[in-house]
Amino acid sequence: MPMTPERWSYIGDYAEDVFGQYDEHLAGLMARAVEAGMPPIAVSADVGRLLKILVAMTPGELAIELGTLAGYSGIWIARGMADSGRLITVEHEDTHADFAQKEFERAGVAAKVEIVRGAALDVLPGIAERVGPDSVDFVFVDARKSEYIDYFEVIKPLLKVGGLYVADNVYGTGAGWIDEGHGTDDFNRLIAADPDFEAVATPMREGVLLARKMR
Ligand SMILES: C[S@@+](CC[C@H](N)C(=O)[O-])C[C@H]1O[C@@H](n2cnc3c(N)ncnc32)[C@H](O)[C@@H]1O
Repeated sequence: MPMTPERWSYIGDYAEDVFGQYDEHLAGLMARAVEAGMPPIAVSADVGRLLKILVAMTPGELAIELGTLAGYSGIWIARGMADSGRLITVEHEDTHADFAQKEFERAGVAAKVEIVRGAALDVLPGIAERVGPDSVDFVFVDARKSEYIDYFEVIKPLLKVGGLYVADNVYGTGAGWIDEGHGTDDFNRLIAADPDFEAVATPMREGVLLARKMR
């Protein structure tokens, strides 16, 4: 039986239905965000759960996220971290950052989360200086797709050996897909060929790349 667009769509809904259970707080969050004028572009609940599981497989002491939006993925990540863990999440829209700050508080994870406001490429050097090399357990990249290679170059030395680098939308977005010349082909090929990393991308939602720093 061939894969069809209908079957692919069914499988996406099925995965969210079976693996995307979430609590009441997360259930209402994106509806509140959309009402407040934000786009409905957070990860799905099953991808959120994947992030939580992956972070929990690391020491979970320090994580970086690029692209906070309303705090949805950040809450999943923070919940996977150690009690003493710290998530630094970067957002260049003040309205998004203000909304996310309130949601981190409502979700009870605000003590673990610091929102850094500004364009990722402007603020990353300061973050790098603060945290230092070989300090980060987990990274989730979900900001500007055309900058994925630049983010990787700055963050790579910050990751611990054994740390995980996760990136969303590596097969595309609603605006276009990898077979149409969209997605993050250059970045995917760069990290796949990097001898310091082992990388693979799952076809969950719009493509979630998982890479482990090997040395
Ligand atoms: C896809 S949304 C993030 C969704 C979020 N990770 C989630 O799943 O809940 C992308 C966010 O990144 C922000 N953003 C886009 N480009 C950015 C940049 N260059 N620097 C910082 N934030 C950026 C946008 O304002 C938006 O809030």
